[in-house]
Amino acid sequence: MINGRLEGKVCLITGGARGQGEAEARLFRSEGGSVWITDVLDETGEHLAKEIGAEYRHLDVSQETEWTHLMDAIIAVHGRIDVLINNAGIFRRNKLVHTPLEEYETVMAINARGVFLGMRAVAPHMLAAGRGSIVNISSLAGLRGAMGAFAYGASKWAVRGMTKTAAVEFARSGVRANSIHPGLIETPMADQLGGNLDKMSKRTPLGRMADAAEVARLALFLASDESSYSTGSEFIIDGGLNAL
Ligand SMILES: NC(=O)c1ccc[n+]([C@@H]2O[C@H](COP(=O)([O-])OP(=O)(O)OC[C@H]3O[C@@H](n4cnc5c(N)ncnc54)[C@H](O)[C@@H]3O)[C@@H](O)[C@H]2O)c1
Repeated sequence: MINGRLEGKVCLITGGARGQGEAEARLFRSEGGSVWITDVLDETGEHLAKEIGAEYRHLDVSQETEWTHLMDAIIAVHGRIDVLINNAGIFRRNKLVHTPLEEYETVMAINARGVFLGMRAVAPHMLAAGRGSIVNISSLAGLRGAMGAFAYGASKWAVRGMTKTAAVEFARSGVRANSIHPGLIETPMADQLGGNLDKMSKRTPLGRMADAAEVARLALFLASDESSYSTGSEFIIDGGLNAL
């Protein structure tokens, strides 16, 4: 059913082939948005885009030139970009003392540099138009210490910091930036928690993980004009874990 909460808006979702990005792509389409799904999982992304009537493009978020090509394509078609969901991310489990430099660099390149490149790619278009909403997917690990996942935690704090810094830079130009901090969300990434998954799920005050669609509804609010007075803020969606 089309409710039109994103009617007329051009939305770009990174890491949109599966998981939370997929849920956002589905919801944003159903709300009337023009959706560009990007990912490195090309077959899955193409298939999803075809199913829901979206565009798909390959984009490794850590690669500067790929962002340039993507923005050229979006501007050539629509002449505008209204929403960026910086959702792509990877998880690696390692304590600081066991984290190889290469692993640290890879996690930072995708989770943090990717968010910087994404915001920098869309910002000139949004600022020129005097409108736009950027939603960066951080984590509960960007609000507290991430036990046993040093590089991941560092990258998610970087996302939180970049969001606030961009938000104050853009605020007077009509462009907003906010971060989402999910707890345990049922996606392929959560499977990487292995044995801890069940334990953490039970520890969560609501007693369960979230469905990716529950995060998508928060992303929709932040993407839409309904959140017009929110910028530079952290939106926690964690079943109460943060309250413990
Ligand atoms: N699942 C959770 O419990 C949880 C909790 C907190 C935060 N998050 C964050 O939510 C976001 C979405 O994760 P998810 O749970 O849907 O996991 P997921 O692994 O299902 O999805 C991540 C997507 O990012 C894509 N991706 C990976 N590397 C990429 C790259 N270099 N360029 C472009 N795309 C790339 C993957 O192909 C995948 O489609 C991530 O930023 C993650 O860190 C997840």
